[in-house]
Amino acid sequence: MKKLSARRRHPLAAVVVLLLALAATGGLYAAFAPAGKAQADETAQSLAIEEGKKLYTVGCASCHGTGGQGTTDGPSLVGVGSAAVDFQVGTGRMPAQQPGAQVPKKRNIYSQAEIDQLAAYVASLGAGPITPTEKQVSPEGADIARGGDLFRTNCAQCHNFTGEGGALTHGKYAPSLDGVSNKHIYEAMQTGPQNMPSFPDTTMPEKEKKDIIAYINSVNGDETPTPGGFALGGLGPVSEGLFGWIFGLGSLIAVAVWVAAHTAKAKKS
Ligand code: HEC
Ligand code: HEC
Repeated sequence: MKKLSARRRHPLAAVVVLLLALAATGGLYAAFAPAGKAQADETAQSLAIEEGKKLYTVGCASCHGTGGQGTTDGPSLVGVGSAAVDFQVGTGRMPAQQPGAQVPKKRNIYSQAEIDQLAAYVASLGAGPITPTEKQVSPEGADIARGGDLFRTNCAQCHNFTGEGGALTHGKYAPSLDGVSNKHIYEAMQTGPQNMPSFPDTTMPEKEKKDIIAYINSVNGDETPTPGGFALGGLGPVSEGLFGWIFGLGSLIAVAVWVAAHTAKAKKS
């Protein structure tokens, strides 16, 4: 008896009692609370966050920190939003492997469901750009010509006029946009990965993003035939001219030499 009353007077006793009471009411609430639709959604959402956190702890925390606060090996992910995760993991850039000038694209190792969970967890750390819906990224009804104009003013300086990509300074490069999904194009504009600037809705509304997607689809599809055959990556008149000069003229000279050699031989015999 003496022992218990001594414990009751322990400075931590009040805290312990309070915690027990809270846990009990929480449990009662969870057991009896009405399970409405909104709550079901909420539960699904918190489940996704929980699962995402587990995946994150295993695959990402070593570089981005246990709470996404960042380390010397990776930036903070607080506020980058679900769109950034969907882009980075969906294109296989993340998890990054070794340090270099630019984290390259590689085979994606997560399922879309796991990516959604990772995205839900990172989005729970701080608000940021949200993964776009199918409807948002669909080029249906978009204006390809306007998309071409927008692409030339905003993107071509790095990605080339037909989205073939090109080299930047210090070993960095703007990749080719051929074969990139509409969703990833949209997310790249939303989030501006690595050396690419971002084009948030305030400077580039959703409609313009759709126009650009429609344009990129049109130059990557079979809709742009390349008259004259081999396109040389759409590098422009200078390089194409140089190619013609070196290889065209070079082969003419080779033929001339061959003809001359043969005529000389024919004369001898
Ligand atoms: C080996 C270290 C490493 C691992 C592991 C890694 N990352 Fe990264 N991550 C980086 C670095 C470095 C960058 C910055 C790349 C840059 O911008 O040059 C980055 C950038 C990102 C970005 C873009 C942030 C922004 O500002 O837009 C996201 C999102 C991201 N990582 C998510 C993840 C997720 C999710 C995982 C786990 C599946 C992961 N990373 C695993 C190193 C890592
Ligand atoms: C300052 C140069 C620059 C500009 C301007 C720019 N980008 Fe990029 N872009 C890059 C770089 C660098 C990357 C590679 C980033 C990475 O690997 O994380 C990239 C990546 C991308 C990707 C991802 C490609 C892939 O293989 O996954 C898409 C899509 C893209 N850009 C679209 C655009 C569009 C559309 C515009 C115009 C609205 C644009 N970019 C403007 C430099 C630029």
